[in-house]
Amino acid sequence: MTTLTTAPLAPLLERLFEEVATLSPRTSAAIADLSSEERTRLMRSKTEYIDLYARLKDLPLPVSRETGTLLYMLARNSGARTVVEFGTSFGISTLYLAAALRDNGGGRLVTTEFEPSKVARARENLKAGGLDDLVEIRVGDALQTLAADLPDTIDLLLLDGAKALYPEILSLVESRLRPGALIVADNADHSPDYLARVRSTAAGYLSTPFAEDVELSMRLG
Ligand SMILES: C[S@@+](CC[C@H](N)C(=O)[O-])C[C@H]1O[C@@H](n2cnc3c(N)ncnc32)[C@H](O)[C@@H]1O
Repeated sequence: MTTLTTAPLAPLLERLFEEVATLSPRTSAAIADLSSEERTRLMRSKTEYIDLYARLKDLPLPVSRETGTLLYMLARNSGARTVVEFGTSFGISTLYLAAALRDNGGGRLVTTEFEPSKVARARENLKAGGLDDLVEIRVGDALQTLAADLPDTIDLLLLDGAKALYPEILSLVESRLRPGALIVADNADHSPDYLARVRSTAAGYLSTPFAEDVELSMRLG
């Protein structure tokens, strides 16, 4: 039996994804006044991400169930003990990753989110899932919150905040990534600079697109 597939986490994730489905029309409504060009521009902006996510502050915007399962499997299979996450939101991806840490025998997950109301929701969900003891949520912009006090070595990094900042966040944690560390970047298509970097063995990575919209990369030793 695993933490992921048993109570309290399994029914909690079921309930959270049901809620995500009911909120889906509100997600579309929150950005309905933006043209698709404007949406793309905002997704790729290194300065206007705060405005974009303020519009979306009541919405969970989680990874898909499939990506969640992938995160659990990657963290569990690699025996991860230290995980860093950029973009907590309601903590759905955090629950998958923390479940893997629990099943690996424990560990530390540092995650970060700048919307305080989302942090409150994430804390509630982690408590309900019985995983809050493994997770440190840093409240604020990841450019500051991940700039210091990181674990000495990082086994797995999830990038799921403002897409345009993926290269900057990678630079903040890069020196801590252990050889073989895995990096999962959701919706990385919106960050061409990031993709160019992790697809370069000269830059120290192996990388491949994986499933829909996910880039899976590995730090070379
Ligand atoms: C796609 S959602 C994350 C979903 C979450 N990983 C999950 O699967 O449940 C992106 C989140 O990142 C947050 N965010 C975006 N840019 C950020 C930044 N620079 N620092 C901290 N949080 C940020 C947004 O407020 C939003 O809640």
